Amino acid sequence: MAGEKIEAEHTAQPTTESATGSGATAQAEPVLSVDGLRVEFPSDEGVVHAASNVRFSVPAGGTLGIVGESGCGKSVTLRALCGLIPEPGRMIAGTVEVQGVRYDSSEALAALRGEKLSMIFQDPASSLNPVRTIGAQVSEVLRVKLGHSRRAAHAEAVELLGHVGIPEPARRMRSYPHELSGGMRQRVMIAMAIACRPRVLLADEPTTALDVTTQEQILQLLMRLQQESGMAVVLVTHDLGVIEEVCDEVVVMYAGYVVERGSVQDLASSPRHPYTRGLMAAMPQIDARTLPEVIVGQPPDLATLPPGCPFAPRCPQVRDECSGVDMDALTTGRCACPFSVPGGEEGEAVRMQSTQVAGR
Ligand SMILES: Nc1ncnc2c1ncn2[C@@H]1O[C@H](COP(=O)(O)OP(=O)(O)O)[C@@H](O)[C@H]1O
Ligand code: SF4
Ligand SMILES: [Mg+2]
Repeated sequence: MAGEKIEAEHTAQPTTESATGSGATAQAEPVLSVDGLRVEFPSDEGVVHAASNVRFSVPAGGTLGIVGESGCGKSVTLRALCGLIPEPGRMIAGTVEVQGVRYDSSEALAALRGEKLSMIFQDPASSLNPVRTIGAQVSEVLRVKLGHSRRAAHAEAVELLGHVGIPEPARRMRSYPHELSGGMRQRVMIAMAIACRPRVLLADEPTTALDVTTQEQILQLLMRLQQESGMAVVLVTHDLGVIEEVCDEVVVMYAGYVVERGSVQDLASSPRHPYTRGLMAAMPQIDARTLPEVIVGQPPDLATLPPGCPFAPRCPQVRDECSGVDMDALTTGRCACPFSVPGGEEGEAVRMQSTQVAGR
C-alpha cells in the first residue's frame, strides 16, 4: 500500500463548524477564515514547507488556539495572515477572508494591518524601538493609521496605556522600553495592537517571555479586551494549559500541517491524533502521581519531509500505509490520522512508547 493515496472515510468535510466547533460563539459568522494557506522558504537543502494547506476560522468574540512544538509553522501562519512573511519566504497559495472579504496576497493582507488585523509578537523587547519613548511609539500608530493630530494621538495614547493597565500612564508616556518590566512592555505592545480597534487580534506566544504571575495577568487582560470589543483572537502557544484556560477552539499543528482541530473540551477529553495524544501526555499535571512524558524523537526538517504522514518517524502506531496518506485531503477534517479510532487505545500506546522527562 505504500505510495498509494489514502483519505480517511471519517474525515469531516470542510465546514466552518469543524474549525470553530462548539461554545456560545460557534454559531456566529466567522470574522476570520483561512483556507489552503501555504508558505514556503527556499533553502540550500530544498524548499521548506513551513505552512501546508492550513485552514481554520474564528467567529467574532471567539478565541482559537494554535498549538504545536517549536518549528511547526505557528508563527509563519500568523505572519502570513498579516502579510509579514520574512524574505525569501512566500505565501504561495491560500485565501484569507476577513469580515466576508477575501484576500489572497501578502500585499493585500499587509494593507489590513492595524484596522482589521493586528499582531502581538512573542518578544516585546525586540518589537519596540529602544531609542523612542513608548508614548511616541503608541502615538505614532494613531497618527499614521487613524490620521490623528499630534495632540489627539497623545491624549488617546495615554488613555490606551491606562486601559491596558499601565499605572500613571501620562508619566509612562515619557519612558523608554528598557525602563519598563517585561510585563509592562507587553502591555504597551497590546496597546499598540488594539489602538485601531482591529476585528482580529493575532497573538504569537504573547506570554512566553514572562514570569507565571505576569503571564496570567496578560492573558486576563487579553480576554477582557476581547470581551469589551468582540474581536476574534488567534492565540499561538506551545502551552496546552494556556489553551485550556482561554480558548474555545484549538488547532494542533505538526510539520506545517493542521493535524487535529476541535473544541478545547473535545480535544482535552478525547484527543484522536497520536501527536495530540503525545502532547497531552507531555503536559505536567499538578496533582499527577506519574511524571510527564515526552514524544520520542525530534520534529522533522520541513525541507526534507517524508512522503505521507510527517509524524510517521515518531508515531507509535506507524504502519506501511502511513507513507501513502494524502495529508492535503486529511488536514481539513477533525483528525489527520486515518488510523486513529475515537476512544481507542492509541493514547496508551503513546504513553508506553514515550520516555520520562529526565530530572523531573
Ligand atoms: N525567516 C525564515 N527563513 C527560513 N525559514 C524559516 C524562516 N522562518 C521560519 N522558517 C521555517 O519555517 C518553519 C516554521 O517556523 P515558525 O512558524 O517560526 O515555527 P513555530 O511553530 O515555532 O512558530 C521553521 O521550522 C523554519 O524551518
Ligand atoms: S498512524 Fe500513521 S497516519 Fe496516523 S499519525 Fe501515525 S504515522 Fe501518521
Ligand atoms: Mg513561533
